[in-house]
Amino acid sequence: MAAIIEAVDLHKTYRIGKVEVPALRGISFVVEKGEFVSIVGPSGSGKSTLFYLLGGLTRADSGKVLIDGADFTGLSDSARTRMRKSKIGFVFQKFNLLPTLDARSNIDVAIDIAGKNGSRDNAYFDKIVGLLGLTKRLDHRPSELSGGEQQRVALARALINRPAIVLADEPTGNLDSKNSEIVLKMLRHSNQELGQTVLMITHNPEAAAYGDRIFHMRDGEMVSPEKDPQWSARH
Ligand SMILES: Nc1ncnc2c1ncn2[C@@H]1O[C@H](COP(=O)(O)OP(=O)(O)O)[C@@H](O)[C@H]1O
Ligand SMILES: [Mg+2]
Repeated sequence: MAAIIEAVDLHKTYRIGKVEVPALRGISFVVEKGEFVSIVGPSGSGKSTLFYLLGGLTRADSGKVLIDGADFTGLSDSARTRMRKSKIGFVFQKFNLLPTLDARSNIDVAIDIAGKNGSRDNAYFDKIVGLLGLTKRLDHRPSELSGGEQQRVALARALINRPAIVLADEPTGNLDSKNSEIVLKMLRHSNQELGQTVLMITHNPEAAAYGDRIFHMRDGEMVSPEKDPQWSARH
């Protein structure tokens, strides 16, 4: 198997005035192509900071992120943005849909952003929209959709370009159990049927169990499951 995401000794400290908040203190791991990895850990353990670094949305103080063998951290901003758009689909806890566009256009926006204007694969579009139960909701704006429907639109948007990597930060954090299951099953489908590599951050052990492997974070470091008291208490 080939590594698709490689984190090498990532460090990141936030500075607010004179106060330093260390968020990541030397994180290293490898995710192989085609894996579904879950990352769990208490609030404040650095999960979202890691997510932003892996997705090239912010820079580390030191260390490297390799995507498909290429060093993200060394790239110029524009090259990093290109790589991100072509290889990575993002899902966030907040749905981040554009309020003035209907669901269909919110999904199509991702095609335009990736520079593929007008080259939508209609069969694939219909397939993921169908799997996500959105076929009859495409003409509605976000304000006319439930939270669960909005997150399903956000997931369709993340998948529409068939990115090699899907990064999700608490994708079910605001959802009821029914919608969580739809989102998690879709992530599993995209992993198993489409071969996409999925890296999902979650608080929820049931959601984490969708992963082939579970990484545990604590105080900016990866720890073994026994050192994650929240986890051991529940298992
Ligand atoms: N933009 C920021 N400015 C200052 N401190 C931050 C910022 N983002 C996160 N932090 C701090 O960094 C630590 C890790 O946060 P975060 O990565 O959001 O953790 P998690 O996603 O696991 O809850 C926390 O102590 C948090 O308060
Ligand atoms: Mg977070």
